[in-house]
Amino acid sequence: MDWLEYQNGALFAEKVAMQRIAADVGTPTFVYSKAAILGAFREFRDAAAGRDVLICYALKANPNLAIIDLLAREGAGFDIVSLGELRRVLAVGGDPSRVVFSGVGKSLAEMQAALQAGVGCFNVESIPELHRLSDCAQAMGLRARVSLRVNPDVDPKTHPYISTGLKQNKFGIAHEQALSAYELAASLPGLEVVGIDCHIGSQITELSPFLAALDKLLELTEAIEARGVRLHHLDLGGGLGITYQDEVPPSRQSLFEALFQRIDRHPIGSRCRLMFEFGRSLVGNAGVLLSRVEYLKQPPVPGQGKAFAIIDAAMNDLMRPALYEAWHGVSEVQLKPALPSQCFDLVGPVCESGDWLARDRELRLEPGDLVALRSAGAYGMSMSSNYNSRPRAAEVMVDEDRYTVIRRRESYEALLADESVLPRA
Ligand code: LLP
Repeated sequence: MDWLEYQNGALFAEKVAMQRIAADVGTPTFVYSKAAILGAFREFRDAAAGRDVLICYALKANPNLAIIDLLAREGAGFDIVSLGELRRVLAVGGDPSRVVFSGVGKSLAEMQAALQAGVGCFNVESIPELHRLSDCAQAMGLRARVSLRVNPDVDPKTHPYISTGLKQNKFGIAHEQALSAYELAASLPGLEVVGIDCHIGSQITELSPFLAALDKLLELTEAIEARGVRLHHLDLGGGLGITYQDEVPPSRQSLFEALFQRIDRHPIGSRCRLMFEFGRSLVGNAGVLLSRVEYLKQPPVPGQGKAFAIIDAAMNDLMRPALYEAWHGVSEVQLKPALPSQCFDLVGPVCESGDWLARDRELRLEPGDLVALRSAGAYGMSMSSNYNSRPRAAEVMVDEDRYTVIRRRESYEALLADESVLPRA
């Protein structure tokens, strides 16, 4: 995260002091770097230069309009999983023909809206979905462009909650069922088969699962085309991991090089457009969660037992530690070398023992100090909630020496706005 740097002991986001953001906007606040997001996208784009590759951004990682707008203007496509996400792409003037619609449970209303908008492709995940989509498109006098999400049964070697390409997962059409599903899709009047896709999981830190999934897909493309169904694109999903602690994922460039090498040897693969649906690897290391220490709670006997730093961010703001025992780095916003360092658990104000954000960290802290929870750009704000009636955090994007509030802190009025009491008798 080279956009985060200390200058004279104070942590800066690009050229803006974190202290200033906290003073102006308050805490907890997610802080993103425009340069880091663009840098990540451009690395993918440059690695694919001269090829027919569409890099989609998986909105679920962080759907803030400013981020979508930034990436749309760079030429990204988008991977969406709901009507809400489609509305976000359309709200910034994104090109619907560069949108792929993923997800196992698309409702009829979502299909209608996506067809109306003209999304580029539906990534279909089951036989009943094929029927529903065909009927829906036919009733609208349209044909839906479809790809079938194949579940290649490849182990992504990642956390079980974020592994999606194994037989026991709910995702995709089983590999052995794929051929008959393609035949069915090709025969349905409301559908036009255009591609094939897979997504095997997230936070993948090795090349081999990507290559294994690619091999299975390439093998299938031959069998599919042998049955007279022509494919135009190959969508390999997202999933490239990032460094939270000491993981060493393949670089964006080496992933592409390895994939291209295999694809180029394959007659169908090399003719098809290649697509990706990256989320975490575009935004994960481009954001931190800025938070203030409310209290330091010392153990009854000094030096024995846990010391807690109770901060104003909680599991409702960053749920990854509670849900996956995820590790996020913690940086003091002002280094205080004169303070003794102590081992703290960083916890939030929410009434759950699972409400922790980092454990056993050596830090030099006083009440009122600011901390930055690192690598919080992906699946931070997007998974946040109002648990304990906590308004959602603000979001800020830094651009060199300026910053913009890209989502203001949720107000208490907004928190209550959609609710009502029963009529009084
Ligand atoms: N495409 C599909 C169909 C997906 O299901 C996902 C993520 C992506 C693309 C983007 O994957 P990425 O490039 O971000 O790995 N909440 C979890 C991650 C869940 C990922 C769900 N699907 C976390 O915080 O680690």
